[in-house]
Amino acid sequence: MLAVAILAAGKGTRMVSNLPKVLHKLSGKTLLKRIINTSKELNPDKIFIVVGHKPSLIEDSLINEKDIKFVLQEPQLGTGHAIQVLSKELKDFKGNLLILNGDVPLIKSESLKELIKTHISENSDASLITTDKENPFGYGRVFKRGKFIEKIIEEKDCNNNEKLNKKINAGIYCFNWYKLSKVLNRLKDNNKQKEIYLTDAISLLSKSISYEIRDEEEIQGINNRIDLAKCEEIFQKRIKTNHMLRGVTFINPQSSSISEESEIGRDVIIEANSHLRGATKIGDNCIIGPNSLIEDSMIGQQTEVLNSTILNSEIMENVFIGPYSHIRPGCFISSNCKIGNFVEIKNSIINKSVKINHLSYVGDSNVGEFTNIGAGTITANFDGIKKNKTNIGKNCNIGSNSVFIAPVNLGNSVTIGAGSVINKNVEDDSLAISRTKQLNIKNWKNKLIN
Ligand code: UD1
Ligand code: MG
Repeated sequence: MLAVAILAAGKGTRMVSNLPKVLHKLSGKTLLKRIINTSKELNPDKIFIVVGHKPSLIEDSLINEKDIKFVLQEPQLGTGHAIQVLSKELKDFKGNLLILNGDVPLIKSESLKELIKTHISENSDASLITTDKENPFGYGRVFKRGKFIEKIIEEKDCNNNEKLNKKINAGIYCFNWYKLSKVLNRLKDNNKQKEIYLTDAISLLSKSISYEIRDEEEIQGINNRIDLAKCEEIFQKRIKTNHMLRGVTFINPQSSSISEESEIGRDVIIEANSHLRGATKIGDNCIIGPNSLIEDSMIGQQTEVLNSTILNSEIMENVFIGPYSHIRPGCFISSNCKIGNFVEIKNSIINKSVKINHLSYVGDSNVGEFTNIGAGTITANFDGIKKNKTNIGKNCNIGSNSVFIAPVNLGNSVTIGAGSVINKNVEDDSLAISRTKQLNIKNWKNKLIN
């Protein structure tokens, strides 16, 4: 039997934030959500989250999460106290308890599995992840005698000599619950921080061992925003390295961020300052950026997106978008389209080979194939109460500066004269024009001067 306890009750004072520390985000997901996801890969029998500071904020953030149990630690008297509070929930539990600090989000499930495997095969009371860190400042120092761990001393309680020890406690432990429960009540707060430390349990148990982790980046803890930025960098490096090894070019990798759910095809070039968020999929041979943001969208092969934003939409192959386009949620843009400079499109179907080249707004519309939308065309879709549809057929030629007052339908091969305001339907093969006739008045300038 395996139970997991994630410690998330602390304030996170060093973050200087109104949010509890574990609700800060790393590449779009909270630290806590990341640790829960990693824990689930171990198929534990139970997952407990110890909450205390702003508990309702934490519970709300996990509203869709099943099979987890919140345990309230009030007041928060330290990591050892958190487990004392939890012990009521584990009265009859027989098995191992994996304790994870909520602020160590990069640990991989493979490493946790190794820790548990070592713990079981060594029949240990406690097993914890350790590493030798070049700069161990801030971490608890682990003191060993031979193979066994004798004690952990927190940075603040170390004397100058003890501070030289580079072996640190990662805040990730596997305990034989029965053995830990027997010593929990003996934990005291006789230390500099006046807290009940979980780490003091180690010297009260008879057999504690360490699992030395190879990749110390996995156990980077987050106590302040500098640590948060460090973790973000490590996490992004992992993702981008993976993509590079699979045939994606990053022109300036540090300036781009990629969500872990994103899929990127072969020979894609991600230019500087470009970001893929959510579940985004980019086909082969695309060029994304510079300066583009794509979220929860699908982009077909050979498409280029320059200086533009695309949200929750589907773009097919061989499309050119930008510069400075905003494709808002609910768009489907078919192959060979050209969506140009300063164009906003929302909730619309744009069929193949359509050109919307300059300065237009197209919303709640359907535009037929091979239609050309002239510069500055606007679909006036909102009548003050509801949104209405504009349907434009195929092979149409829409003159510049036209306004469509929706709802309105155009047939195929329609021509609209530039500057028209269209509020009536137009049949196939017709010209519609609605503008006052030009009036030329001769010698006007002379008259004014006289
Ligand atoms: C802790 C360890 C330290 C280790 C480091 C690794 C202790 C005493 N020290 O120090 O040895 O090197 O993590 O990152 O455990 N929390 C509660 N209830 C509380 C206090 C804290 O749930 O009463 C939670 C926090 O929300 C946090 C976690 O426990 O997620 C760790 O607390 P934190 O204050 O960050 O401990 P560190 O100083 O980092
Ligand atoms: Mg910490």
